[in-house]
This record gives sequence, structure tokens and C-alpha cells, in this order.
Amino acid sequence: MAEQTVLKLDRVSKSFARIERDEITYALGETSLEMRSGEFVSIVGASGCGKSTILRLIAGLIVPTMGAVTVNGQPVDGPDPSRGMVFQKPTLFPWLTVEKNISFSLRIQKKLDGSAEKVERMLRLIGLEEFRDDYPAQLSGGMAQRVALARSLISEPGILLLDEPLGALDAFTRMNMQDEILGMWQGSQQLVIMVTHDVDEAIYMGTRVIVMEARPGRVRAEIPVELDYPRNRSSAQFVGYRNQILEMLHYGAKES
Ligand SMILES: Nc1ncnc2c1ncn2[C@@H]1O[C@H](COP(=O)(O)OP(=O)(O)OP(=O)(O)O)[C@@H](O)[C@H]1O
Ligand SMILES: [Mg+2]
Repeated sequence: MAEQTVLKLDRVSKSFARIERDEITYALGETSLEMRSGEFVSIVGASGCGKSTILRLIAGLIVPTMGAVTVNGQPVDGPDPSRGMVFQKPTLFPWLTVEKNISFSLRIQKKLDGSAEKVERMLRLIGLEEFRDDYPAQLSGGMAQRVALARSLISEPGILLLDEPLGALDAFTRMNMQDEILGMWQGSQQLVIMVTHDVDEAIYMGTRVIVMEARPGRVRAEIPVELDYPRNRSSAQFVGYRNQILEMLHYGAKES
């Protein structure tokens, strides 16, 4: 399993030139963050506040405009299998079956020992054993998203980047998957960074919740969640965190 990992964003910002409109979009204002192995960091914030941009910077899919992203002091200079990503829109290989999509990273990394068992475990986890020979076009949105999740989880990357991985799932499947992902993370030394729109999900899963604000995207607060797992969504402390975060996102209870 992964050695101790320290991920740093050191005064990172990202802007995009919009040539057709002669404009610049400031996707992420100057941001510094530090995260390490064993943490589960949730990121919440309004649409467009730079959440996916942060994950893409860490994945090495885009480069910062200013500042540096480093892992154990080494600059991130491109994608690497040690940083696995599940995208907001499921991206599966349309020409591969469910089973072959899931085993893809093991095959390219030549991690073939025990790969058949791992694939079985993943198919069970996402409840799609019967669909193993189907192609992505034959799946519903929620099923495709579960396959994308399994494809990243299977190689146990030291850093796992999840961009609203459970967004397309119904409420019950979603709660089951939350527990399954937590179970896997607890048995590992992984650093998981998960973007979600769901404040309860952020608190239920995270050791820390990062609350972001828009225009320009920036970190409003970092809130350590000091509750033991498994967490009780209706406990007074849980509700306290929920109110605190909703307030920051400007959805606090209105005074009547
Ligand atoms: N490749 C790009 N070119 C131009 N603008 C971009 C690009 N990627 C992101 N942006 C802009 O940067 C801002 C932040 O985008 P980002 O995708 O990080 O938001 P987000 O917080 O993930 O939003 P959502 O919750 O809707 O997924 C947005 O204004 C977006 O339009
Ligand atoms: Mg996004």
C-alpha cells in the first residue's frame, strides 16, 4: 500500500483565457491546502466555485496559472496512476465491457496478481455482477457512474480524487455506496478527496470539510469533523456541523 503521502497546494491559482470573448475566467483564486495519507477530505461549494478545477490540478490534467501542486515535495507534472480520478461525468471506454472497464487499470499497470478476485469484489460492491458483459451504452447513468468508481477503486491509488462520484445514484444506493467507500478507505492509508453537492454526505464521510466560495473560487473555511465512524446523521453534533456549513453556503435557517 501507499507510503505516507503529503499533498500540498502552495498558493495555487488557475485562470482560463476565453479567446472568443476576450475574457479571462478566474476559476480558482490563490489557494493553499495541505492534505495527507489517511485523510478523507470533502469539498463543498456552489456550482462554478472551482471544485473540479482543484481535483484536475491535483490529478495533473491541468497546470496551475500560479503556484505549485506537490506530492511529497515533488511537483505534479502530469497524470499518474498513483492519483486516481473519478470524473463528474462518468467516462468509460465505450468499446470495453463493464468487466474490462473495471480491470483496465490493473491491466495497463500489469498488476495481474489476484486481479480476477479483485474484479469480482468490485462487481459485487457495485451490484453489477449480472451486467459484467454489457457495454457502457447499455447502462443507466447511475450504473455507469458505479463502474467508473470501481475502475478507480480497484487499483487502490494512494490519492483518490472523486468528483461527485455518487451524484447520479438513488438515495438508498447512495447511502450504501457511502458506507462501502468509507470501508475501503478505512482499511487503507489512502488520501481521498471528494467533491460533493450534498452537505450531509460531506460530513458523513469526511475527516475534514472544505467549504468553497465562488467568483473567484476560493476556500471559505476548513472544518475538521470530530465524530467517530460510523456517524449518526441525526445526532446533535452532526446537525450542528450541517447548520454551520449551510450557514456558510448561505442556506442557513431563515429567521421568521
Ligand atoms: N477548461 C475551461 N475553460 C474555461 N473555463 C473553465 C474551464 N474549466 C473550468 N472553467 C471555469 O472555471 C470555473 C470553475 O469551474 P469548475 O468546473 O472547477 O467548477 P465546479 O465548482 O466544479 O462546479 P460544478 O459544481 O458545477 O461542477 C467556472 O466558472 C468554469 O466555467
Ligand atoms: Mg465540478
